[in-house]
Amino acid sequence: MVSKLRVSRSLRLRVSDKGDLLASLSKSSGEFGVSLDLVQMLRLLPQFQDDSKRMASELKRSMDAHTKNLPPQQEIESLLEELQEAGVIVGAKDNEGGIQDGFGDPWIQWAMISDSVRTRKYLEALDKVLNKDSIVLDLGAGTGIFSAFALMKGVKHVYAVEETASALEIPKILQRMGIRSEGRFSLIRSNSADAKFPRTVNVVVSELFGNDPLGEGMMATLADIVARVDVENTVFVPGSFEVFAEIIDVHTGAAHHRLKAYAESNKPASKDFYDRFLHAARNELDFSSLSFPIHLSESEFISCSNAVSLGKVSLKLFSDEDILFGKHEMSVTLDAAVPVLMLWFRVKLVDGVTVSSRCGSPDFALHWSPILIPLNDKVNSGDKLRLEHGTDEELTQIEVSLTRASKILAAR
Ligand SMILES: C[S@@+](CC[C@H](N)C(=O)[O-])C[C@H]1O[C@@H](n2cnc3c(N)ncnc32)[C@H](O)[C@@H]1O
Repeated sequence: MVSKLRVSRSLRLRVSDKGDLLASLSKSSGEFGVSLDLVQMLRLLPQFQDDSKRMASELKRSMDAHTKNLPPQQEIESLLEELQEAGVIVGAKDNEGGIQDGFGDPWIQWAMISDSVRTRKYLEALDKVLNKDSIVLDLGAGTGIFSAFALMKGVKHVYAVEETASALEIPKILQRMGIRSEGRFSLIRSNSADAKFPRTVNVVVSELFGNDPLGEGMMATLADIVARVDVENTVFVPGSFEVFAEIIDVHTGAAHHRLKAYAESNKPASKDFYDRFLHAARNELDFSSLSFPIHLSESEFISCSNAVSLGKVSLKLFSDEDILFGKHEMSVTLDAAVPVLMLWFRVKLVDGVTVSSRCGSPDFALHWSPILIPLNDKVNSGDKLRLEHGTDEELTQIEVSLTRASKILAAR
């Protein structure tokens, strides 16, 4: 309904080093330029969303009022000082700056580097591709572990790009480790879209995967990078990733009770108040696109179908396979009382070196969790299910729908 329109709460605005006003919907997603009148329009949305005529006249009135009330020249200097004191403006030599939350949080960075499966596999892959002629782009460097490894391996140059305050720790860590980087290391503390690096980069290493591999906006980030390097002669680590869907039965563990209650409250309730309430809530709450990431240990679930590949995405992003759209048949091989569609991914770092978000697999990287999508009905061995999948327009989420004889069992 038109009257329910509102600006997404995830909208973030920032001013680039060049002075452009940029908007994004998540920290790592792509950015787009916005003009001041558009920002003002978004501010007027709650009042005039269903009356574009009044919005247009109010927009003109408010923009005119703004231009009449601009600060005179003598006020500008003190305003700039105040903004600097408030930390809104930072000096070139300031050691503050950079985004402090999300990936700027040291504990989040620690969660990634302490995931030894993930990190050691990356180092193993880098060890195979780096040589003294390598010019490395460490895209989303975090604490700089890949930069440090590359410098230690004696590469020609490393460009480390990191948009959060974590970037500030990288030189200190290099120094503490005694890694010599003089003249071979450039730290770029900005979003990669603003980062300047030469076209001669020939190794791009990145780890931009969310639990939904697309969730951190990696596709937009990589598309920009691919356009700015000599792709044919550049090694991307990882080279590709593949997404899988699998039906599982969750029979114990932390998620079991809510999934079981979800599966069981589908049938008509008994006379018990609690059962009746769950049944009523189950039918009223909007679970039409229910999904959540959660860590499952191997003993908490059992696989009830083949794992269907939704497609392989090359990080060089120019093959036909890189679009995750398709239709598949899934065969249920075991009855599932608490059935869940599990989405997970496997990253191919280089030939023979992989990491995945599939709990229980030998290459499982601990800090990722698979995405669970509870089914709204039980499935039995022999059932044939139809899985359709795609992505949202911004390529930040994998979308799926699972049906049995045209009845939707799960969707995201
Ligand atoms: C999953 S972490 C990986 C950090 C480090 N490479 C590692 O493996 O330990 C991703 C990092 O990339 C950064 N990042 C994501 N997108 C970025 C972008 N477009 N420009 C700059 N930094 C980005 C995030 O701030 C975060 O620190």
